[in-house]
Amino acid sequence: MDKRRVTDEKRLLHGGDYNPDQWLTYPDILEEDVKLMKLAHTNTFSVGIFAWAALEPEEGRYAFDWLDKVIEGIDSIGGRFILATPSGARPAWMSKAHPEVLRTDAYRRKHLHGARHNHCFSSPYYREKTQEMNRKLAERYGNHPALLMWHISNEYGGECHCDLCQENFRTFLKNKYDNDLDKLNHSWWGPFWSHTITDWEQIESPSPIGESAVHGMNLDWRRFVSHQTIDFYKSEIEPLRELTPSIPITTNFMSDNPEFVPFTGLDYSEFAKEVDVISWDAYPAWHNDWEDTATTASRTAFLNDHFYTMKNQPFLLMESTPSAVNWHDVNKAKRPGMHYLSSMQMLAHGSDSILYFQWRKSRGSSEKFHGAVVDHDRSSENRVFKEVAQLGQAMEEVSEKVTGYRRVADVAILYDVESDWALKDAQGFGLKTKHYGETLQKHYQSFWDKNIAVDIVTKEQDISAYKLLIVPMLYMMSEETAITLQTFVKNGGTLVSTYLTGLVDESDLTHMGGWLKPLRETFGIEPLETDTFYPSDKNTMVYKGFEYEIKDYATIMEAKGANVLGQYESDFYEGTPALTEHAYYEGKAYYIGARLEQRFHDAFYEELIKKMDLKPALAASHKRGVSIQSREANGMQTIFIMNFTEKTQTLTLHERVLDSQSGEYIEGDLKLKPYDVRIVEKSKEA
Ligand code: GAL
Repeated sequence: MDKRRVTDEKRLLHGGDYNPDQWLTYPDILEEDVKLMKLAHTNTFSVGIFAWAALEPEEGRYAFDWLDKVIEGIDSIGGRFILATPSGARPAWMSKAHPEVLRTDAYRRKHLHGARHNHCFSSPYYREKTQEMNRKLAERYGNHPALLMWHISNEYGGECHCDLCQENFRTFLKNKYDNDLDKLNHSWWGPFWSHTITDWEQIESPSPIGESAVHGMNLDWRRFVSHQTIDFYKSEIEPLRELTPSIPITTNFMSDNPEFVPFTGLDYSEFAKEVDVISWDAYPAWHNDWEDTATTASRTAFLNDHFYTMKNQPFLLMESTPSAVNWHDVNKAKRPGMHYLSSMQMLAHGSDSILYFQWRKSRGSSEKFHGAVVDHDRSSENRVFKEVAQLGQAMEEVSEKVTGYRRVADVAILYDVESDWALKDAQGFGLKTKHYGETLQKHYQSFWDKNIAVDIVTKEQDISAYKLLIVPMLYMMSEETAITLQTFVKNGGTLVSTYLTGLVDESDLTHMGGWLKPLRETFGIEPLETDTFYPSDKNTMVYKGFEYEIKDYATIMEAKGANVLGQYESDFYEGTPALTEHAYYEGKAYYIGARLEQRFHDAFYEELIKKMDLKPALAASHKRGVSIQSREANGMQTIFIMNFTEKTQTLTLHERVLDSQSGEYIEGDLKLKPYDVRIVEKSKEA
């Protein structure tokens, strides 16, 4: 089996986290689960995620009988199981007997037992013990025909500052700096506030990062935490690779919440290389009171595309809620229809699954009110259950035309987590207004509104095939990346960048001599100063006869070969360039010097889309809030038309497409009720 494929069968996965270990003294519940799974049109369950205490009730005594039965139940309805390694939470006996597994926080306080996701990634005992547990799981279930994949631990994250981790940090640094303290001191700008290190033993992790002035060290610590976490994961999967080489491996990634932007705890671009399939846990705040549904949808779409592009292949939605969550400030129920719509959106953006947290609501503890497929009423008749079943049925119907289908984009936005770390740490500009992830989402929104597919690439990925590359706020940029961007434009690409780009190198040291030469040449400008605004400060820019408001940032710059498309309207830099365009070799480079309102992004990108003849998934006219997204395979496109508004929308389709549900061709007017979805097909050439 090709491990890059999620499954060897052509079906979308529907189901989710199943925690029967909470219900072992309720045999009727376990029986009921199997019946309800069938009724809910579900087929895939992740088991054992937090089940260590049930799998090894005391050190060295393993208990798998209960899991055998659970798997039998899933198998009996033709379902598959995703087997989790239980390292996301430890049993109490372990913390008591081997306190080294407990994490130490940035203030060097050792955690007490409790909660989860809080083990030390360096602990030799924990590494050995997880390997032992994983080996046992692989030996027992590795050949089970219903085993679909491995789910390693759960939402890896956090950091430990214990002595073992400190030692590993120092080793990491010795490797990185070739055992040369001079190199390290230069990179960390050591003499600043007398931070020069004269012996490796003086090095201690930042305590905590927000209070550490040594930005080079903070950055290396972030890199180390990421490295150490991935290293732990690699140790976890060793026995699995050995015993079950053909079973794909994933671990569930996440977003930064509540902002709902890319996760910054780890470097996922590195982690992605080590998993066979990307999976992620999505918890958008639908129906919130700070943005309209379309904007929430656009930001969700951005994250999906971010996860798709990590491996350029379909991913899995590993967790989502069928109704409410329990950890947002306000845990609102999904309105009727939203579950169907939001799930279809995941499929539209490249997910081959809709999986939930969780199958059945717990009876006790902190997640007893978190949404689940089966509520405390144990009924298949309530609204949430019925909506899940309806979705399951619809997924069965479209499975063949979606599973494994790919996304194709001509446009890419570059996201870089290391730059995100450095920018957050930067003392300067607006301390509360950097909003890197959110800024990317705003650029993205203009394309989402127009149904133009976008990839979210990293600085390491091959960008040469894209027509348009957008690089907002890439604060930290190596010379190498600058040259890559320059080459992209030289070869005919269109590049857009913004304020706060290219200010420091990969060690968080500023570039000597001002802006990097390849950037100066490519954009044909020279940035001179960055002005930062108070919320009440006002300035504007006129572009194509319309005035746009500026917020937070304005780069004061000189055009050196670039065309000036927009100028500042006031302040001491009135009349100087705010937006430039530079024809460079075969391509073009635009520089947006200021943070402008969304209306500007929409107008600017609309113009560019026209000029570059970028094509939407389907030729159609509609109001904002309708999204049309496509997946394709073998010259066929499966297209999702989705209404993310609370109103009925009438679209005009300018192409003839086959309506998947009715089997009839449609063109011209199409009515979509609030939250409605229509799936249509066409051949790519048509
Ligand atoms: C996730 C986690 C799940 C569950 C869920 C609740 O972050 O992986 O175990 O706690 O949140 O929304």
